[in-house]
Amino acid sequence: MQNIAMFSKLGVFLSLLVGFVASEDISFTFNGFRSANLSLDGIAEITANGLLKLTNDTKQQKGHAFYPNPVRFKNSLNGNSSSFSTTFVFSIISQYPTLSGHGIAFVIAPAKGTPGVLPSQYLGLFNETNNGDYTNHVVAIELDTIQNTEFADINDNHVGIDINGLKSEKSAPAGYFADYNGGFKNMNLIGGHQMQVWVDYDGVEKQINVTLAPINVDKPKIPLLSLSLDLSPIINDNMYVGFSSSTGSVLSNHYVLGWSFKMNRQAPVLSQLPQLPRTGGKKRSKLLTIGLPMMIVTLVSVAISAAVYVVKRKWKFAELVEDWELDYGPHRFKYKDLYIATKGFKDKELLGVGGFGRVYRGVLPTSKIEIAVKKVSHESRQGMREFVAEIVSIGRLRHKNLVSLLGYCRRNGELLLVYDYMPNRSLDKYLFDQPKITLNWNERFRVLKGVASGLLYLHEEWEQVVVHRDVKASNVLLDGAMNGRLGDFGLARLYDHGTDPQTTHVVGTFGYLDPEHIRNGKATTRTDVFAFGAFLLEVACGRRPIEPRAENALLVNWVFSYWNRGEILEARDPNLGADYVAKELELVLKLGLLCSHSKPAARPSMRQVVQYLEGDICLPELSSPGLCASSLTFAHKGGFTDLAMSYPSSMNKPFSHPSSVADALLSGGR
Ligand SMILES: *[C@@H]1O[C@H](CO)[C@@H](O)[C@H](O)[C@H]1NC(C)=O
Ligand SMILES: *[C@@H]1O[C@H](CO)[C@@H](O)[C@H](O)[C@H]1NC(C)=O
Ligand SMILES: *[C@@H]1O[C@H](CO)[C@@H](O)[C@H](O)[C@H]1NC(C)=O
Ligand SMILES: *[C@@H]1O[C@H](CO)[C@@H](O)[C@H](O)[C@H]1NC(C)=O
Ligand SMILES: *[C@@H]1O[C@H](CO)[C@@H](O)[C@H](O)[C@H]1NC(C)=O
Repeated sequence: MQNIAMFSKLGVFLSLLVGFVASEDISFTFNGFRSANLSLDGIAEITANGLLKLTNDTKQQKGHAFYPNPVRFKNSLNGNSSSFSTTFVFSIISQYPTLSGHGIAFVIAPAKGTPGVLPSQYLGLFNETNNGDYTNHVVAIELDTIQNTEFADINDNHVGIDINGLKSEKSAPAGYFADYNGGFKNMNLIGGHQMQVWVDYDGVEKQINVTLAPINVDKPKIPLLSLSLDLSPIINDNMYVGFSSSTGSVLSNHYVLGWSFKMNRQAPVLSQLPQLPRTGGKKRSKLLTIGLPMMIVTLVSVAISAAVYVVKRKWKFAELVEDWELDYGPHRFKYKDLYIATKGFKDKELLGVGGFGRVYRGVLPTSKIEIAVKKVSHESRQGMREFVAEIVSIGRLRHKNLVSLLGYCRRNGELLLVYDYMPNRSLDKYLFDQPKITLNWNERFRVLKGVASGLLYLHEEWEQVVVHRDVKASNVLLDGAMNGRLGDFGLARLYDHGTDPQTTHVVGTFGYLDPEHIRNGKATTRTDVFAFGAFLLEVACGRRPIEPRAENALLVNWVFSYWNRGEILEARDPNLGADYVAKELELVLKLGLLCSHSKPAARPSMRQVVQYLEGDICLPELSSPGLCASSLTFAHKGGFTDLAMSYPSSMNKPFSHPSSVADALLSGGR
């Protein structure tokens, strides 16, 4: 069908893409640098309590600290610099309140420290000869505390974006725009206060933002500096990231307390930073002269507010633990930890809202592990014990195509489930509604095979049979290496246990629901196979199982009609273009139809599905009498009456352009 040149081109393209996808984006977080292995030079050192001290009280010196390994900055497909984000907390403590050393710069450079560079106004970055030279390939964000007219500095307290030299491309006086009224607030860089800097670069928009704020202020929405600039010609493929600082003739200590960096997404949040050394020892004697009564008043009021704080905090972090849970100790997370991890379940950390609740991203305070926390509300306590037992047992499931459940936490009316964080979100984002990024055939086929093997593990390879009950593209998450991982297993059970055992409640998603399951309310492994069939079709066709606006609303019928006309490949996702392997695509589409069979017994088992996908056995011919258009249609028609009764009305969204099948569905009783 296609010529060989085309295939070999495709091969090169695919191998490039696979190579790119396989290398995980670098990300690191240092809340203090005690255990950090930074490359230091000059007078930089790490103090016993974990502060990065770039300069000490020595004049005319420089200090460097770099992340030890190079960071890959470029997307190998198009040579564009990728997006990145970094944040750090710093403090400058000077001998004099109005005079200081030269400041700190965050640096992206080809080497961890260049020989021949100068301290003082050169910030340990450049010297007279190479300042401004485009071959430097240096990007720096300077926190400059001395005005140097030779570099056209605007004042002695500014933030600047420097490219290859000390004359800033753009700079602004230190400060920030308050979120509540947009007003500008000045900041004093040398005041010894802790301040935080965020540097965000968008590789698509080609824009770099720098934001500054005092440590106790959340990242302001409006950046201090925003510069449209393509970093691709400046940044090499691999670069080092770190800090540079220098002193002049005034003694000053430049400290960095914490630092995080991440390619392609927001830098992780910093917390629990080390303490700065005490300053202002002279003030203590003054305090004594103020007198005892004053001190007592202060102490009492501190004690009262501490007590109020403790009570409030206790209430805020209250959780529900019952005796029977004590056995599950290691699987239980502290609410406080989850609260801190997700920054108080801030909307900013919201990853999505699923069928069972809201999911937040978080970073565990001590281990720094990235997690996803799902908040499931549950009114009834009934069945909670069984459910938690099940969660704990599910927590032991380990498979490379399943999202690991790390544990849980319980509060009044709320269950929190803690999962591994999946950086590439869910598969549906790459398939439906004109996605910005689509997956090529190879990636899709790999995801399908992975999810099939994950389901097989749940059905047959673990100590007990686990029926997933909600297999669909939005429940398949992509990890850092773009492996498909099935999430949310077992959650459907919560709703079973939680309701009156006399009534069976159908859980799942319309369009993926096995008609048999709808009829009798029993979920079996074949229920999952049915949903997996719908999943195969949606991945191959880039369409949801039910597309109300489409001419043929039910995907399975739509694919079936193509098959009937002998042109099943034409049902494929147009986004695939010519990039697909016809044999595999045909297999996936036909297997999708086979799994959608209305009779559970006629569907293959997950073991067979895996064997078909791996090419170990051949798919039977589809022309068998068990499968014909009417049988498929009947399957959906038959199921509908029950569906209408057991589903909340919100699930029965009216279709705007009903086709004949959708018509049949809506008129129900036919
Ligand atoms: C500053 O650090 C350097 C190198 O660690 C050291 O040699 C020097 O004595 C220090 N100076 C002061 C004043 O602590
Ligand atoms: C620290 O980094 C250096 C340079 O990359 C490396 O040689 C060394 O093994 C690292 N040490 C530790 C403890 O990671
Ligand atoms: C300036 O720095 C460059 C780069 O490290 C170095 O090659 C050059 O020798 C330095 N020039 C002087 C005058 O030190
Ligand atoms: C930079 O700031 C502008 C203005 O607030 C914003 O629209 C843009 O998304 C920001 N870009 C990055 C990379 O943060
Ligand atoms: C890479 O940069 C070029 C030129 O600026 C742009 O046209 C292209 O869309 C970029 N590609 C991506 C994937 O951002």
